[in-house]
Formats: sequence, structure tokens, C-alpha cells
Amino acid sequence: MTSSADGRSRKRLTPHAAKNRQGWDYFADWFESTFGKELARHGGMSWGSFHVPERRLRLFGDLRGKDVLELGCGAARWSLALSRAGARVVGLDVSPRRLQQARELVKRAGANLRLVEASAEAVPFPARSFDVIFCDIGAMSYADPYRTVPEAARLLRPGGQLTFCTESPIRMVHFRSQKSRVSSRPRRNYFTMHRIDLPRTVHFQLPYGEWVRLFRENGFEVERLIEMRAPLHPRSKFLTRQELRWARQWPFETIWSVRKKDGPPRRQRASGKSVSESALRLSP
Ligand SMILES: C[S@@+](CC[C@H](N)C(=O)[O-])C[C@H]1O[C@@H](n2cnc3c(N)ncnc32)[C@H](O)[C@@H]1O
Repeated sequence: MTSSADGRSRKRLTPHAAKNRQGWDYFADWFESTFGKELARHGGMSWGSFHVPERRLRLFGDLRGKDVLELGCGAARWSLALSRAGARVVGLDVSPRRLQQARELVKRAGANLRLVEASAEAVPFPARSFDVIFCDIGAMSYADPYRTVPEAARLLRPGGQLTFCTESPIRMVHFRSQKSRVSSRPRRNYFTMHRIDLPRTVHFQLPYGEWVRLFRENGFEVERLIEMRAPLHPRSKFLTRQELRWARQWPFETIWSVRKKDGPPRRQRASGKSVSESALRLSP
């Protein structure tokens, strides 16, 4: 069931996507055994580390008959759930091992789901193929937004929706890359934040204002920005007490939901310029 546009897509991988591919092949089994059960809660439809159910946030409307793409689907629990809700779903991931896990779950569910091995930065589908593109701590955390946001704009039909849960910018300012832990003091410059290298993976994050600029430049309107806070009595297999306390005071994750406008995008400037440039421009 996995598409074999794979060979071609793999050749197009950026160096950071290739590193994330290797990294996620390495982490896949640990990730499944640690988080698989939690991710299956709420019928596989919950957002972020605190598993806030979709039925509470209602980010998706009626998906019956809609074309939906998940960027970084992992074992494809979300994709499976949305296909049960009546959508035609494509689950895309860069890691062959994670897609193997997805194939097993899809087979067990007897579902009709297309799985594609490719990077979210270069999706092997024609323009205007989808009504909804989404992920939950998926490829939008690991791929370069200067590539994925224009790619989503290309792939969505007018009026289409891009919705994703990713780490919050504030969390990434406090993120200790070597330990993969959130620290109580800031670790990097907010304004210049973009690529964050970990030993086995690469993350990406931008300042809030830069996200908004990038969305608008690519013809999106921001509809919702949800800032995820740890519940009062959180349970976590992975986060430390200090991190859980931190996540009561600061947004741990962010859900962006943006919609592609009907008209052509309003180009303000060439994409791919450095974040520090916009910080400079906005400085008093
Ligand atoms: C934290 S996992 C979450 C996946 C999913 N939400 C789940 O519940 O299993 C992140 C996923 O993003 C995928 N990923 C990372 N970089 C990617 C890229 N450039 N394109 C597509 N997928 C990517 C990884 O292989 C991994 O499966």
C-alpha cells in the first residue's frame, strides 16, 4: 500500500530531512512502545503531549469525502481515525520504519489508506490535491517551514485548511538540545530561532510573528492559534516533573490552524530570508 514514488522522493531529501529519516528509523520502535497506547486514546484523535481530544477542540469539521494529507503520520493513528470519519486520507512519512508500523496498523484495521514515503518538504502530489493538510507533532516540527508552508499552499485547494500541533516557540527557546529537555532558563535567541540541531534529529521553530508573516506571504489566513497548557494533574511517561511544572506556566505546544484564501498569495518579499532580518526590521 506504500507508494513507490519513494526512490525519487528520497533523492530529493534535504540533508536535515535525511538526518531525520535516519533518526526516526532509530527511534521508531522505542516511540511506539512508549507512546503507542497513549496515542490510541480518544480513538487516535488527540492533540499534543497532553492528548487533548479533537472532540473538545473541534479543529476539523465534517471530513466526509474530503482529501486529507497527514505530514509525518508515524504509525498513522490519526490518519486511520480520519479515514474512519469518511475522509480520503494519505499518510506521508519520511521514515521507512515508521511507515512499516503504519502498514501494520492499517492492515489490522482493514482500512483503505494510502501511505507515502516522502518528505513534507517535497510532496509527490500535484498542486491543489488536498482539502486538509495536518499533523500532530509531525513533520511540521522537523521540516523547514520555509519549505513546508509554501508546499502546503501549493497542495491545498482554495479554502483548504492547514492545521498542525508543534512545539511552542517559547518551549524551543528553553530547549536544551543535547539533553532533549526543557530547562527553566532560556537557551537560545528568540528572534534568530529557526533550525535546532539535536544529536539524532533536527527541529525547526520560528518566532510567532515570523510564522504569521510566512502564512500571509503564502496566501493563508490565521483562523486559530491554540496554546497548549499542561493539565493540573498531568501524567507523562516522558516529561519530568520540572517540565510539567514549566508547562503549567508557559505554552508547551502550539496548534496553528490557517486557511488558504481564494485569491493568489500576496507576495511581500522573497521567501527564505533569515529570521534575524525580520527581527531587525521590526526593532525600534
Ligand atoms: C513525533 S513523530 C509523530 C508522528 C505521529 N503524530 C504519531 O503519532 O506517531 C514525528 C514523525 O514525523 C516524521 N518526520 C520527520 N521529518 C519528516 C519529514 N521531513 N517529512 C515527513 N515526515 C517527517 C517522523 O518520521 C515521525 O514519524
